[in-house]
Amino acid sequence: MKKQKIFIFDTTLRDGEQTPGAKLNTNQKVTLARQLEVLGVDVIEAGFPISSPGDFRSVVEVSKVIKKATICGLTRAIPKDIEVAADALRFAKRPRIHTGIGASDIHIKYKFKSTREEILARGISAVKYAKRFVGDVEFYAEDAGRAENEFLARMVEEVIKAGATVVNIPDTTGYCFPEEFGAKVKYLFDHVTNIDRAIISVHCHNDIGLATANTITGIANGARQVEVTVNGIGERAGNTSLEEVVMAIYTRREYLPYQTNIKTSEIAKTSKMVSQIMGIPVQPNKAIVGANAFAHSSGIHQDGVLKRRENYEIIDPKIVGFDKSHIVLTARSGRAALRHKLETIGIKMEKKELDMLYEKFLRLADIKKEIYEDDLRFLAGQKEETNHKKVKLVLIQAVSGNKNIPTATVRLLINSQTREAVGIGDGPIDASFKAIDACIGKKYSLEHFMIQAVTVGSDAMANVNVALKKGNKIFWGTGTNTDTIVAAVLSYIDALNKFL
Ligand code: KIV
Ligand code: ZN
Repeated sequence: MKKQKIFIFDTTLRDGEQTPGAKLNTNQKVTLARQLEVLGVDVIEAGFPISSPGDFRSVVEVSKVIKKATICGLTRAIPKDIEVAADALRFAKRPRIHTGIGASDIHIKYKFKSTREEILARGISAVKYAKRFVGDVEFYAEDAGRAENEFLARMVEEVIKAGATVVNIPDTTGYCFPEEFGAKVKYLFDHVTNIDRAIISVHCHNDIGLATANTITGIANGARQVEVTVNGIGERAGNTSLEEVVMAIYTRREYLPYQTNIKTSEIAKTSKMVSQIMGIPVQPNKAIVGANAFAHSSGIHQDGVLKRRENYEIIDPKIVGFDKSHIVLTARSGRAALRHKLETIGIKMEKKELDMLYEKFLRLADIKKEIYEDDLRFLAGQKEETNHKKVKLVLIQAVSGNKNIPTATVRLLINSQTREAVGIGDGPIDASFKAIDACIGKKYSLEHFMIQAVTVGSDAMANVNVALKKGNKIFWGTGTNTDTIVAAVLSYIDALNKFL
């Protein structure tokens, strides 16, 4: 049996753009609209044409390039708004005017300073007027979430009579609870006699984090269009997020036996484009598209996912366009994850070797938040500390800064005897080297000094190479640590040990 379709009305370019700081120019709107079409949305709400000449131009240009999706322009229930929207949509293959007015008593009384009857009449006239320009007219009953159901039902019935093809039931303030919102949609289906002549749409905001839940109960109670934004961006706490609703329908087919036109493999790319172009980062724990949505960091979860992905993932990341799940190595990771990561970079180890590496890994993971592949390469390639070294570092403590004289205290074990000295230098590394020289009692000349970051991140491992010269002999030393000064001291001591 063919599943019923849920129409995806994307309002990233209109309600999404109402996010503070997210203003888009025409080129940016056209770029995103093209990607929304590739993604497969049914309707693109491209803007609010009367709001500014720039937005008018954007709706015109988006209308020119989009071939399949319906292009929609928002208006208030005001004739001039409707005329301007119709003009902006003149190139659209499938134009839709989205007009409407407040339906809640709060809006009627305090925003419009009017009465229910007058507001109803204005809504009906707006639909009739918009019908003169386009066949497809969507009506929004603003703040329907807080509107009295009986009046809302009357409004819906009247605007359908006036010619509305789609009626939008917005929870404008993100006020409703899921059962309440579902009951509201059901009430409309039970009381609006001509409801079968229009598509009922739901448009939810996320003020108490219920936008997706409310949208889903809207669908379960008869809505066949959902108004959403990519990454859930939008006014205040945002709108219902496209990817959450689409993947809820995809994942829970037995509960929501519907389908959408969305090409799910384009979701990750679209999310990145919206985030980059709008300059709004996606929160790491954002469902479906956040950086951590498919990342596993605790040992128990990593072990489970490695045994079978479904143990801890309900969605295959490939379905939404990510190449794979991520095993994030942290101090909470176990040996299974460490072995897996090592194998992905081509390093195979016996159990004993792995156990030894795991100890080193935990020590490093306690210092660094995350262990990257380069860190592993480094750990795996690191030689074991030998006990026969003459000079060993016990302590290094350095002070520097723009108001201090760089000073370092170094404590060494030299042939099992403790020596400690303080050095002052041009910087903390220079001071540390002077302190070591003081402990050793010998002076070598420093011929070469180089620092490199061997891994990524501000907590990257630093690798320092030094060359010490005495007479015509040169000895190289190397040291690696997340602390550059410690890495430099280790490299200096490494060179000294070779010399001694
Ligand atoms: O949230 C809302 O009510 C809206 C309407 C303009 C559709 O965005
Ligand atoms: Zn809205």
